[in-house]
Amino acid sequence: MGITEGESDVGKLLSEHHELLEHICSVRDWVGGVTELGMPRFGELGSRLIPLREELALHFAEEESGRYSEEAPFDTREKMVELREQHQEILHQLDLLIGSLRAKEPEFRSWQAAVERVESLIADICHHERQETTVIQSAVGRGPRTSAE
Ligand SMILES: [Fe+2]
Ligand SMILES: [Fe+2]
Repeated sequence: MGITEGESDVGKLLSEHHELLEHICSVRDWVGGVTELGMPRFGELGSRLIPLREELALHFAEEESGRYSEEAPFDTREKMVELREQHQEILHQLDLLIGSLRAKEPEFRSWQAAVERVESLIADICHHERQETTVIQSAVGRGPRTSAE
């Protein structure tokens, strides 16, 4: 059996990507609203990132279980391993950011500086997920391959 879509693991993975993006959008909407009001809420922003961090950690653990890539063509497996190596760094950066936002004295010059850090990390997460989606979708329908083929 190769990688197939539908009620398969791959279908589940793609729908998790979709849910993650929705979650990220809701954080962004909230940030936009707070920015408009002009009342920085560093600690609350940090707290709002915690459920996203938890969702991301679960999602990464699923991907790291290897279920999605063991049947994939060899080049897909290699690319997935490469992408998997980014997981710990993303979670680490997110932890640092949450810690800085929730510190007694928020460690940012301004609300704008905090928003920029959040946006930059969100961009990294989106880039990671988009690359994965592309790799997986391009592998759907192709059968398993080995390096020798
Ligand atoms: Fe991933
Ligand atoms: Fe992913």
